[in-house]
Amino acid sequence: MKANVDKEDFVDIDRFRATMHNYCPHWVNDGAFNRIVESHFGMRHYCHGSFSAPVQNLLTNASDQPVRILDPVCGNGIWLLEMATTYPDVQCFGSDPLGVFPTGFNEPTNLSFSHEDATLGLKQFPDEYFDFIHVQLIYHRFPRKMRKVLMEELGRLLKPGGFIELRDVDPLIKSAGPVTTTVTTGLPKVMADITGHDLRWTHYMIDYIKLTGAADVCQQRPVMPIGWGDDMARLTRDYVENAFCSFKDIMMQGFGWDEAKFIETKETVLQESVANHSFVEFCICWGAKPLEDLADHASDICFLTEDFDD
Ligand SMILES: C[S@@+](CC[C@H](N)C(=O)[O-])C[C@H]1O[C@@H](n2cnc3c(N)ncnc32)[C@H](O)[C@@H]1O
Repeated sequence: MKANVDKEDFVDIDRFRATMHNYCPHWVNDGAFNRIVESHFGMRHYCHGSFSAPVQNLLTNASDQPVRILDPVCGNGIWLLEMATTYPDVQCFGSDPLGVFPTGFNEPTNLSFSHEDATLGLKQFPDEYFDFIHVQLIYHRFPRKMRKVLMEELGRLLKPGGFIELRDVDPLIKSAGPVTTTVTTGLPKVMADITGHDLRWTHYMIDYIKLTGAADVCQQRPVMPIGWGDDMARLTRDYVENAFCSFKDIMMQGFGWDEAKFIETKETVLQESVANHSFVEFCICWGAKPLEDLADHASDICFLTEDFDD
């Protein structure tokens, strides 16, 4: 674990804020923008970049063919805003039915947002349209069946040779103190019983990404310290606190807590996390869709072998 955050991370945050000021000054001046940007760059810091798939050359090399990237669950659109401003020659597309991405602003010309529900199909895009598809933080939004449908749709949209990357947090705190252990042990069942959502989905992420047709899948599990370790860790602490608050009703119902017990437990978890050097893991999976149909390839090999035998 690094003792100090790379100065580069803060330079990047300042550079991004300045760039965004040209596009949507009203959003940049809003307090919520800073929180969104800090949380994006905090995650980027611990994941060692905004993407892990080997697409840097694709995004920067000039080519006659347009390069297109998609974030089909883009939320506030911050990942795409960073990509569109960093790679001005790449066409960036985002979609989210909630439409919480900024609207009515002077967006970069290579970026567009729409309001589609990705599980109903992003029908405005033809088959094999995208070079890179990125999906991040869907764990408590997509039940199992919807995740499968989403992956199949993304498989349709991904070009042969294109890359897909999934990133999500494994929300169960590791190296946990005693109260935290009680909460994280009980939480998956509470969540499954009340919402039907599976908090452990990152454990099967490789199986899901394969539904897109991706092969040669790679996985990383970078860690995010909660409130200790380096200057960015306060962001992870805020992240855990926000996650706690967003699950408040579910936790109170599932664990039988009243309001006071909820607040006491939340504070204890945050204190224990610093004392025990607790962390959460990110799960990152990426893979590429094969360039040619493996079945065709297999018949080529048979043909060559027959020739060789002659
Ligand atoms: C936790 S947010 C993550 C957003 C973004 N990927 C990020 O990293 O900030 C989950 C998002 O999933 C979106 N979502 C839920 N169901 C969806 C669906 N069927 N199609 C597309 N987006 C969906 C929600 O609107 C929400 O913005």
